[in-house]
Amino acid sequence: MNSKLKRFISQYPPHAIEESDIADLAVFDKLIFAEDSFDEQFWRNDILNNPKGTEIIRVNKGPEGIAACVQGVIKTSKDTSQYGEVGSIAIAKEYRGMGLGTYMFDRCIERLLRQHVSYVVMQTHIKNSPMQYMAKQKGFVISRTLTNYYKSGIRDAYEMVLIPAAKPVGS
Ligand SMILES: CC(C)(COP(=O)(O)OP(=O)(O)OC[C@H]1O[C@@H](n2cnc3c(N)ncnc32)[C@H](O)[C@@H]1OP(=O)(O)O)[C@@H](O)C(=O)NCCC(=O)NCCS
Repeated sequence: MNSKLKRFISQYPPHAIEESDIADLAVFDKLIFAEDSFDEQFWRNDILNNPKGTEIIRVNKGPEGIAACVQGVIKTSKDTSQYGEVGSIAIAKEYRGMGLGTYMFDRCIERLLRQHVSYVVMQTHIKNSPMQYMAKQKGFVISRTLTNYYKSGIRDAYEMVLIPAAKPVGS
């Protein structure tokens, strides 16, 4: 971890999402994802109190409000096995490029994998090179293209999947 990131994390450590983060998160999300953002009601009802899965959300509050947010969820598939999904990750513009995205993303993936999920899935814009790079570094591969996934602009996304390495027998 570089010294800038180390300083930032020790000053503004990530915490689990709280009710008091919701209003700020909705504003932050709108700024970054525009039409594809989650509004306050969605963050509260479908994310904070998710009836369908266990949420792993880390929020990082910097000096001017939310600096970073990563949202992972554990879901149950039709065959009742559990899988993880990274629903959203965003770093405020002024804090990008110092490793914060990688730090938050890696922690989220590690938390999901600790729950013994059979795979982790995420969707990312086909032009989002930094996100695809980060995901590939972690072992994700592109599994398919999702046509018209987003609401505006170039709307296609890649679905990316990480399948955990099998543990040697007896370990
Ligand atoms: C994608 C995002 C989360 C990355 O966060 P970040 O804090 O800037 O990322 P990091 O500083 O950890 O850098 C990630 C890596 O991407 C690399 N990278 C940056 N721009 C890149 C580009 N255009 N192409 C390829 N790799 C790139 C960096 O070099 C770094 O790799 P390194 O550690 O080997 O040097 C951030 O840009 C963001 O919030 N974007 C807007 C929201 C978004 O797109 N979220 C993803 C939705 S699926």
